[in-house]
Amino acid sequence: MAYQNILSEVREQILYITINREQKLNALNKATLAELSDVISFGTMQDQVRGILLTGAGGKAFVAGADISEFSGYDAEQGEALARTGQEKVFNAIENCPKPIVAAINGFALGGGLELALACHIRVASANAKLGLPEVSLGLIPGYGGTQRLTQVVGRGKAIEMIATADMISADEAKEIGLVNYVVPQTDLITKAEEILNKIKQRAPLAIAAAIKSVNSTFAYDVNGFETEIKEFGKCFNTEDFKEGTTAFLEKRKPTFSGK
Ligand code: COA
Repeated sequence: MAYQNILSEVREQILYITINREQKLNALNKATLAELSDVISFGTMQDQVRGILLTGAGGKAFVAGADISEFSGYDAEQGEALARTGQEKVFNAIENCPKPIVAAINGFALGGGLELALACHIRVASANAKLGLPEVSLGLIPGYGGTQRLTQVVGRGKAIEMIATADMISADEAKEIGLVNYVVPQTDLITKAEEILNKIKQRAPLAIAAAIKSVNSTFAYDVNGFETEIKEFGKCFNTEDFKEGTTAFLEKRKPTFSGK
């Protein structure tokens, strides 16, 4: 599929996705969300994709939020539908993707932009990044999972402070509160994200998928995460990757995983 709002390509087993609406600071309009949903399904299904790098075009913004111009005339029903569809098709799909997704936050990550980064598994920020959930300034609250995922990542006190004040925080502050894993100079951002993905690429893909599912179970209200871990652990024993990993260890060589 040819996309209008995002760039995507697979290089050396990494799916690179760039949100490409630089003039609008990569704000998430419906068309962009639909394309993101499509490309995440593509990455999920393609065996050759071992990890995903998500970033925004230009040097100023990762994503400056949902596109305010699209929903300014909405009523309650339309607002609820907007949040529900977006959460299901994009944000939950990212969080539940079996391939690790690294957000390379290259500037503003505001509102839906921070929510997008929060749905990703790992976050790397450039030193100039600014992060925040400013929705209450618009008379709204975050609707793409931000109230939940920010709280899971930084705890209730900091989450309510960030949401209620609408303040942006710097990349260094974000690192301090555990909101991002790394802060690097902007010129090193993609390299740092690639460094993480290049390590992940060498590990067993099915085991990584099992780990993501098990870790995500911590936050699923209707699932016992320990039980998920037990089941996923057990399933690993039936994979070719498990045989390869243990055999390679015993033969003192590097494993080559097939993802089977
Ligand atoms: N939705 C729609 N358009 C947006 C947008 C958004 N969330 N964020 C930025 N844009 C657009 C601006 O309208 C502007 O478009 P224009 O050139 O056609 O007028 C363009 O992107 C550049 O933004 P601008 O505001 O001129 O840049 P700035 O450097 O002065 O300010 C921000 C940058 C990020 C502080 C500011 O754009 C902003 O506050 N954006 C909204 C953030 C927000 O509230 N997000 C949550 C939405 S739920």
